[in-house]
Amino acid sequence: MQVYDIREISGGVYWVGARDWNRRLFDALIPLPQGTTYNAYVVRGSEKTALIDTVNPGFEEELEARIRLVADAEGLDYVVMNHAEPDHAGAIPHVMKLSKDASLVTTEKGAKMAQIYFGVPQERIIIVNDDDTIDLGGKTLKFIEAPWQHWPETMFTYLVENKVLFPCDFLGFHTAYGSYGDEIEEFVPFAQRFFGEILMPFRKMGQKALEKIEALDIEFIAPSHGPIHRDPERILNLYRTWTAGDTREKVVVVYVSMWNSTEAMIKAMVDSLMAEGIEVSLHNLVNADLGDLARDLVDSRGIVLGTPTVLGGMHPLAIYAAHLVKALRPPLKYGVVLSSYGWGGGAVKQAAEILGPTKIEVVGAVDVHGPPTDDVYQQIADLGKQLTDKIKGQA
Ligand code: FEO
Repeated sequence: MQVYDIREISGGVYWVGARDWNRRLFDALIPLPQGTTYNAYVVRGSEKTALIDTVNPGFEEELEARIRLVADAEGLDYVVMNHAEPDHAGAIPHVMKLSKDASLVTTEKGAKMAQIYFGVPQERIIIVNDDDTIDLGGKTLKFIEAPWQHWPETMFTYLVENKVLFPCDFLGFHTAYGSYGDEIEEFVPFAQRFFGEILMPFRKMGQKALEKIEALDIEFIAPSHGPIHRDPERILNLYRTWTAGDTREKVVVVYVSMWNSTEAMIKAMVDSLMAEGIEVSLHNLVNADLGDLARDLVDSRGIVLGTPTVLGGMHPLAIYAAHLVKALRPPLKYGVVLSSYGWGGGAVKQAAEILGPTKIEVVGAVDVHGPPTDDVYQQIADLGKQLTDKIKGQA
């Protein structure tokens, strides 16, 4: 294929990745409203050349075409695998076949994955540990182990002389638009949903990763998804907040309703919270974007879960959402459950069972037979006040 964009982001450092404008789903789960990029970079020293990460399967030819514009595709010396997930490592077999003398550089855990997933023979793998370096000739690659960002084997690569950090998934986000973060008018919601979707479960490890790079002099952050950051502090500050689990006076409302009773209860609760100045984000699970929900979980202090009882338990969409909330491990502190049933209850009990192992304190629940009455609305208002007090009482 014909390619033209081989941006030199810093002296001797070239973007050679691929834009996937049409991708709309990741991990068969996460919507990608603006597609994504798989960023790969060529670093040319005076003696050696390295490729940092590769691209998703299906984009091998595009990667190769870009590499050929800036380097000898058959003469790469190193292929750095910061992360083994196939969106970044899927083209490793292709480049290792092209450059028959290239060595794959990765962590110890990464080495096992490279053998299992990509068939890289052990003798072609260089295992690196924290602070190990490779000299390309006037360009030094320094490796920083950063496990669980987003798999156990992940690491960052820092190009010392150019002050460029290559952190793979960390600090990146899904969009095919733009080349630099400052070219995208408002990137925070995209970065936040990416963090919520894949990095939030590993917040503590994210904090450790931030501590490790705190002392580095960083001019550019070149992640493996989305645009390059020319203003590193902006994205770093966001990550400092998100990995710390800092929350706002905000409640995320997640619900599904069959005959409007649960919805009427939810609307009353939302109104009571907003009357107290609480920020609310609402997601009807019938058509919710899970990425938006993940984004709102990053900084919400409370959650309201609304579900009717169906066949003795929660509505299946609500079960799905509750399990997702549990798996993503958001910094939520307080929750309430609102439910309506036709024959007999069961949803509230099941919600408590699913959320029980989390750190969410269930402030209360309202469970009603049929549509809400004036008494029920009063219970909801009272519960809304309790939730508000909790939310406002906690920083
Ligand atoms: Fe973008 Fe965890 O791969």
